[in-house]
Amino acid sequence: MSSAVIASECKRRRTFAIISHPDAGKSTMTEALALHTRMISEAGAVHGKGGRRATVSDWMEMEKARGISISSTALQLRYAATGDPDDFPHVINLVDTPGHSDFSEDTYRVLTAVDAAVMMIDAAKGLEPQTLKLFQVCRHRGIPVITVINKWDRPGQAPLELIDEITERIGLIPTPLYIPVGIAGDFRGLLDRRTGDYIRFTRTAGGAKIAPEETMTADAAAAREGDAWTAALEESELLAELGQDHDQEMFLAGQTSPMLFTSAMLNFGVRQLLDSIIEYAPEPKGRKAIDNVEREVTDPFSAVVFKVQAGMDTSHRDRLAFMRIVSGEFERGMVVTHAQTGKPFATKYAQAVFGRDRSTVDTAYPGDVVGLVNAMALAPGDTLFIDPKVQYPPIPSFAPEHFSALRVTTADKYKQFRKAIDQLDAEGVVQVLRNDVRGDASPVLAAVGPMQFEVVTARMKAEFNVDTVIEPLGYSLARRTDEQSADELARQRGVEVFTRSDGAVLALFSDKWRLQFIEKEFADLTLEPLVAAAD
Ligand code: G4P
Repeated sequence: MSSAVIASECKRRRTFAIISHPDAGKSTMTEALALHTRMISEAGAVHGKGGRRATVSDWMEMEKARGISISSTALQLRYAATGDPDDFPHVINLVDTPGHSDFSEDTYRVLTAVDAAVMMIDAAKGLEPQTLKLFQVCRHRGIPVITVINKWDRPGQAPLELIDEITERIGLIPTPLYIPVGIAGDFRGLLDRRTGDYIRFTRTAGGAKIAPEETMTADAAAAREGDAWTAALEESELLAELGQDHDQEMFLAGQTSPMLFTSAMLNFGVRQLLDSIIEYAPEPKGRKAIDNVEREVTDPFSAVVFKVQAGMDTSHRDRLAFMRIVSGEFERGMVVTHAQTGKPFATKYAQAVFGRDRSTVDTAYPGDVVGLVNAMALAPGDTLFIDPKVQYPPIPSFAPEHFSALRVTTADKYKQFRKAIDQLDAEGVVQVLRNDVRGDASPVLAAVGPMQFEVVTARMKAEFNVDTVIEPLGYSLARRTDEQSADELARQRGVEVFTRSDGAVLALFSDKWRLQFIEKEFADLTLEPLVAAAD
């Protein structure tokens, strides 16, 4: 494959995720984006709201009951940006982030697969805890952020208040590309700060269709909207005086954030969001391997697995590994090498997955996300390649804060239990810790959030038909130690030593005072903090 083709495929690709607090409208926006790119003809199709039924596993039931997204998948949209003279269709990969705060480790992995993030904020609520957490991950990884103030059709804060809040609380300077005309709750249209034009929206019944828009000159807007237009104009001028205009370099450096105002529900401002993603979000770039050598996008195929998932559908039990392509062209059927084992991996079953729909992928390029079926050997962070060999740095794991013993309650299911534990461990659902005292029948699970344990028991039952119980342990933090220190540590009260499945020796402590005491008493013991993503 010629590198010119790959370079041009990269040029038209954008890969991003929406980060938001639950309820800010991420699902609604995802649908609105699908509607605008004509993936679907009416809102309600992707998330099954339009009365669609699908076979779902118990696990999916749990996801539905809790209204959270446990699965992480990717939606590929094709879109010809407005004003593009050649009608050049862009390819937008929207990678879905898990929605619950408990899933930060998962979310972190997903965010290693994107080149930009859209931070979606509810106009009435402003910055919320989950948004802040996710934003910190983006900042940590150097992912540029586009800010979207959603639900502008409902009463909320003033644009300048929201801008101040973001600047003050997270030190990110919003540079609005558009200013809403009409206060929150009276969304009439947008002032395009670059052209000075007015884009007026018209509601459609139930917001199910793309909202028609009409572009008007400033004079026509002033005549039509009166004070609402004048207010928007004044806000825009004030921001210009403050220097809050879009600057591509500062955006890519994570200092500023292009800002938009939308109503995902009414489909207002969605086209503008798509256009802004095309115009400003970076195209896929090469990546540094562990030997510090950069693999360029035009080099032979390579990809990083960022998520492994099983049990999406009980009717055909399988295991999917999602990879983000870093370089080269992917062709279904290609045999690639798994860097971690050196073994060949056949890609006969490559799929694009979104929600419950799957379709076969034949070719894919850097930035694309492809699901590989039956990927039993693959784990998050693994590299796949075509010669020459490349291996990307592993995805750092989070410092777990919750620890529970897992016990099988049906005696004759021990074999399945072990198999299930190994699988969930390999997928990175939880970390699995063992020691001689507890034995193999009762491993200890370590996770960032306690909901991860529920995922384990639910999947044990749904996929392996094994009943298990979770017994929370009185530990709240872990330190990495070594064999030399292990015996002394194991003798201490409120401390237990384990070996993690990757071979790391971990000491668990009941609380930070216990840890501090031991650190003081036994200064020569090895006790290192585990990597936290936000470090
Ligand atoms: P999430 O994925 O971020 O958790 O949010 P989701 O899209 O599910 O939206 C949460 C709620 O907010 C939904 O209402 C949704 O309709 C509503 N919503 C999303 N975007 C907008 C918007 O731009 N304007 C207004 N007014 N509402 C919006 P719900 O009552 O919980 O669900 P439903 O009955 O509408 O399905």
